[in-house]
Amino acid sequence: MNKQTVSNEQQQALVADQENVWHHLSNHTPFEKTAPMMMVEGKGMRVRDAKGNEYLDAASGGLWTVNVGYGRESIAKAVYDQLIKMNFYSQTAGNQPAALFAEKLLSKMPGMGRVYYSNSGSEANEKAYKIVRQIAEKKYGGKKHKILFRERDYHGTTITALSSTGQFERKNQYGPFTPGFVEFPHCLEYRSQWGSIENYGVKAAMELERVILEEGPDTVGAVVLEPITAGGGVITPPKGYWETIQKICNKYDVLIHIDEVVCGLGRTGKWFGYQHYGIKPDIVTMAKGVASGYAAISCTVTTEEVFDCFKTEGDDRDGYFRDVSTFGGCTAGPAAALENIRIIEDENLLENVQVQGEYLKSRLLELKDKHPIIGDVRGKGLFVGLELVKDRDSKEPVDESLVMKIAGHCQNESKVLIGRTNRSFREYNNTIALSPALIATQADIDEIVDALDKALRTVAS
Ligand SMILES: Cc1ncc(COP(=O)(O)O)c(C=O)c1O
Repeated sequence: MNKQTVSNEQQQALVADQENVWHHLSNHTPFEKTAPMMMVEGKGMRVRDAKGNEYLDAASGGLWTVNVGYGRESIAKAVYDQLIKMNFYSQTAGNQPAALFAEKLLSKMPGMGRVYYSNSGSEANEKAYKIVRQIAEKKYGGKKHKILFRERDYHGTTITALSSTGQFERKNQYGPFTPGFVEFPHCLEYRSQWGSIENYGVKAAMELERVILEEGPDTVGAVVLEPITAGGGVITPPKGYWETIQKICNKYDVLIHIDEVVCGLGRTGKWFGYQHYGIKPDIVTMAKGVASGYAAISCTVTTEEVFDCFKTEGDDRDGYFRDVSTFGGCTAGPAAALENIRIIEDENLLENVQVQGEYLKSRLLELKDKHPIIGDVRGKGLFVGLELVKDRDSKEPVDESLVMKIAGHCQNESKVLIGRTNRSFREYNNTIALSPALIATQADIDEIVDALDKALRTVAS
């Protein structure tokens, strides 16, 4: 990309933005003085803003989304070709890219059988909750309708997705919430609820059993879990965790719903995060990286067994899945997703994630040796978090204002964009999150880690 000065057109867009757009997750008071950043171009790992600054993006579009990188002409072309042929028809009928993408996707998900299309991660999760609720009606007289979720996990922005989210700061002022969603404790060993114990992973997973028993196993229909918690602090599950979760769910006939909205499509070095842990999910939801942000698409994938519950005969008018999502019939999403998955395969991006992910982790551990503020480094593949603390012994978290300063330094001084936990928990917004595109090279990783090193030296020492 060429560095350019601000054109008249871009200046006009900046003013129009400042005067008209309500931005996500943003306090607008500072925008009265300074226009928010506006991205105008992207190529590979890099983006350029309207003022001509070029950045290395270590957060895949700010929300771990642009997995195959920016400026992919082949995806744009696939979408263009599809749109002029057939842009939309309700998903009550089929369309070519949706059919072909479903087939391709399921080939990467042994044990899963059906794909249901919608447009966002929140919506994909809502579909899953409706599936669980309807199964409860059909098989258990409505009783087994509760859905358990884990402290620190995030499942979306709609009221019911928030009802199943374990990040209290995100939920403040948005209640009352949907009934029937019950929280159980997190599994972040670094912040063990039981001090230093052996088999932390098993103990943390047993908390699920405790809550199932408290609620009554005949009332619990499903548990929803991120394979690796993302916005809640990049939490990799401890040893023994998933095996125990699987056993508990089998024992009490509780469906496992894995939220792969962040981890899905390669972020952790396998197609899906759950595939690292031998889990057998009943429902898997995904969005962000499915089409790398080239079009909106999300999927709720179920086993054939779950799907079969919704086949009805005779005069059972309510028995099938009576859900619809208008834009689930847009063909741009699956057309982009088909090309996106082809790119991941043809460019061996899963392998690249494994190799570069190991390199990123090793470089961050070196950084940890240098900077006592780094309390913990965790993650898998190109999905890593650094938890920052005031003191390694007490593990007192740093204030989020310091994390914001570090991110600001990386952005302004090194032109590297990094992610961070943002308004999720009052005291634990202290994790820096790195999630560069799956195409990242060793040189990109070096640039990201060097930017962090410099920021920590300047702002945090
Ligand atoms: C794990 C997880 N699930 C669901 C969502 C919601 O996705 P969306 O913003 O597309 O509704 C997110 C968004 O960040 C997420 O991180």
